[in-house]
Amino acid sequence: MDAFVIDGGRRLKGEVTISGSKNASLPIMAAALMTAEPIILRDVPCLRDIANMRRLLHELGCETTTAETDPNEIVLESDPDGPNLAPYDIVSTMRAGICVLGPLTASRGEARVSMPGGCAIGDRPVDIHLRGMAALGAEVSLDEGDIVVKAPRGGLRGATVFLGGPFGSTVLGTANVMSAAVLAKGTTVIESAACEPEIVDLASLLTTMGARIRGAGTPRIVIDGVESLGGAEHRIMPDRIEAGTYMVAAAITNGELTLGNCPYDCLLAAVDRLERIGVSVRPAIEGQPASSSDGVTNLMAVTALDSESSPYRRSRVTVESQRRLSPVQVTTQPHPGYPTDLQAQLMALLCLADGNSIVTERIFPERFLHVAELGRMGAKLYRQGQTVVVSGVDQLRGARVMASELRASAGLVLAGLAAEGSTTVHRVYHLDRGYETMERKLSAVGAEIKRVDEEEVAGGS
Ligand code: EPZ
Repeated sequence: MDAFVIDGGRRLKGEVTISGSKNASLPIMAAALMTAEPIILRDVPCLRDIANMRRLLHELGCETTTAETDPNEIVLESDPDGPNLAPYDIVSTMRAGICVLGPLTASRGEARVSMPGGCAIGDRPVDIHLRGMAALGAEVSLDEGDIVVKAPRGGLRGATVFLGGPFGSTVLGTANVMSAAVLAKGTTVIESAACEPEIVDLASLLTTMGARIRGAGTPRIVIDGVESLGGAEHRIMPDRIEAGTYMVAAAITNGELTLGNCPYDCLLAAVDRLERIGVSVRPAIEGQPASSSDGVTNLMAVTALDSESSPYRRSRVTVESQRRLSPVQVTTQPHPGYPTDLQAQLMALLCLADGNSIVTERIFPERFLHVAELGRMGAKLYRQGQTVVVSGVDQLRGARVMASELRASAGLVLAGLAAEGSTTVHRVYHLDRGYETMERKLSAVGAEIKRVDEEEVAGGS
C-alpha cells in the first residue's frame, strides 16, 4: 500500500490541467451496454474506479480497449447477448457499479446486480433507483444479496417517475432511470431528477446515440423512448471536484494556480464560498478574460457557447490567495448548491481562517471522517450531528493521518500542503480512486510530495 509524504509550507504556483470527470465517466461507460455499436470516449481519467468499471463491463460482455496513442481514450463494444450479472466482488469495491442496472434492464430485459452495502460515508441505500425501475414496469426483487430487475414482456414502459428522497434526488438513480427510459415504450417524465452536470453529460452521450431527452440539468427530464441506440463519440466533461480541489490547493498554500480545462460554470457555489473567504477566482473563456459574475450565465447560453461534445465551457481559471482568510458558513446541497464532494477540502482551508466557520453536511450526514484526522494536525473542530464548527488556527502541524474515503483523504493532502513540517497521508489508494496523478500534478506546481510504500514510513514520525 502507498502513502503520500508531504513537506508542507510551499507556495504553489503554475498550471494544472483538469482531467475528465470520474463521476461522469462511470454511468457513461455503463450506457455502452445499450448498443452493439462502438462507443468511443475521450478524456476518460486513468483511475482505480475506472479500471473497476472496465472489469465490471468485461464481466457483462462489454470489451473496452485503450487507444494506442492516448491512454485517456477508450473504445467500448458490447455483446448484446452477454451475461447480466454484476458480481459482488466488483460491486463491493465500487458502489457506482449500480449504474449498470438501468442500461442492462433496458437492453437485455433483466439485470442482476449485487446489492451495494454501506460505505465509509454512510448507509447509501438504493431504494429510489429501485422505485424508479419499478415505475417503468420492471419487477424488482432481492435474491441471495443480488438485486434482480426484470423488464415486463414487451419491454419497459414510459411513466411519470418521482426520484426525490430524504436528502434530495439521487445522481446515480437519475442516471439509471434516464438510461432505462431511453429504450422504454412511450414517454417518461422524471420529476425531482438530479440536476448534476454529470447527468447532463450522460444525456449528451445518450442523445448522440439516438436518444430523445429534454430537460437534463433541470429537476424535470422528459424522455421519448426509441427502438434502439447506435454508436457514438463523446468527450467526457472535466472533473468539477478535481478542479475545486486544486482551487483550494491554491488558496491553502497562499499560492496562484491556473486551471486549464476547468468546468467553471459547474463550480459557482464553490467559487462563491472561496470569494467570501477572500480568495480571488478569475475565469477566462476561449482566451477572453471574464469577471467571475460572468459565470452566472444560464445553462442554455453555456451550452450554446461550447463547440465540444461536452455541454459545458472549458475555462482557464486563475485562483490566487493572499492569505488572510475570512470564516464562512457552508451547507452541502444537491447541485447547483455546494457539493458534498468538496466539503472536506473546504474544511481543511477553513481550519486556517481568521475566526469560526460552520460546515453543515446535508447529503451524507456521516461524511466527517477527516474531522478527527485534521484534529491530529492541530485544527480546532467541534462536531455536533451534521454540523462542524471550525475554529481557525494560525498554523497546522504535520502528522501521520489516514482517512478511509476519497474526498476526506483529499482534504488531508490539502492540509498537509499548508502544514508546518512533514505530513504522511496513509492509504493513498482512496485518492487513486478519484484523482489522476495527483502527486505529479502537485509536484509540477511546487509541492514537495512523494509517493512511498507504507512499509517505508511505518514506525516513523
Ligand atoms: C454520486 O453518488 C457520486 N458518485 C458521489 O460521489 C456524490 O457524493 C453523490 O452523487 C452526491 O453528489 C458517483 O457519481 C459515482 P446519491 P450517488 O444517490 O449517486 C440518498 C465521490 O466522492 N439516497 O445522489 O450514489 C443518499 O443516501 C462520490 O466521488 C437514498 O436515500 O449519491 C444520499 O443521502 C462519493 N436512496 C443522497 O440520497 C437512494 O436510492 C444522495 O445520494 C439513493 C440515494
